Amino acid sequence: MIGFRLFPEQASTIAPQVDALLFFLIGLSLFFSLLIAGLIVVFMVRYRRRPGGDHVPDIHGSLALEGLWTAIPFVLAMTVFFWGASIFATMQRPPDNALEVHVVGKQWMWKLQHMEGRREINELHVPVGRAVKLLMTSEDVIHSFYVPEFRVKQDAVPGRYSSIWFEATKPGTYHLFCAEYCGTLHSGMIGRIVAMEPAAFEAWLGGRQAGANVPIEVDGEGIFRAQGCGTCHRADGSGQGPALQGVFGKTVTLASGQTLVADEGYLRESILDPNAQIVAGYTSVMPTFQGLLSEEDVMRLIAYVKSLKAGEGGS
Ligand code: CUA
Repeated sequence: MIGFRLFPEQASTIAPQVDALLFFLIGLSLFFSLLIAGLIVVFMVRYRRRPGGDHVPDIHGSLALEGLWTAIPFVLAMTVFFWGASIFATMQRPPDNALEVHVVGKQWMWKLQHMEGRREINELHVPVGRAVKLLMTSEDVIHSFYVPEFRVKQDAVPGRYSSIWFEATKPGTYHLFCAEYCGTLHSGMIGRIVAMEPAAFEAWLGGRQAGANVPIEVDGEGIFRAQGCGTCHRADGSGQGPALQGVFGKTVTLASGQTLVADEGYLRESILDPNAQIVAGYTSVMPTFQGLLSEEDVMRLIAYVKSLKAGEGGS
């Protein structure tokens, strides 16, 4: 039992907040469990049957009491709800300056790539004091990216993108688990998060790694050219498909009249299932790239589209 700890270390900015809520819930449950158990014992003794058989009074309710035991649980439940919702909302909204890392889960490993190009397997290096956003998907079944010390857990789901963010606070090595049963070697789908001082992280990021020090959007541009995307998606908008400059994050109007924000999920769908949501003014001439591109390549392609700013040339 040496080194045994009841709770994992708190190594991210969100960890103390999650723990505070958990301790509050445990405290609340303990308080009421003890109160009720205690009162049962007290009443059992106090109101036990006595010789002589005293008369039991008729009580037809009390509005004050009813109000009180409705109001107290209501306030407590709402406190827990809004407290939890606020932490959840924080976890769902990454800060704007967050570093981005692409994550693809597969049976049975985690494949990760930094925007600067560096790739990793079952290991993620991050700087401390900087928010890191993960854009995740899966190649096969549902996996779940779980870092107990950071108090973050998010499913990686095939066919869609999910994301989670965290900011490490202490340099160190932390567990990475798959937290969704995904087959025979689920228990072996583990890795580690290495949180480093920013300078050490920069040095690591720039370190030599054969063939992989190309920024992710440059990789994406290569795929864009190789697949001939530029034939239709011309920068000047004269092609058969819409120009992609500045499209990311923009609200687009679909042929159906519906509008949506062109986020990563929409771009992914447009590549793999182009006819699902066509932008108004265009027709369905684009072939699907389902099966032609790996999930990682789709992510690289999206990184390239995201890098295309409005009013720039490009391919
Ligand atoms: Cu992947 Cu469990």
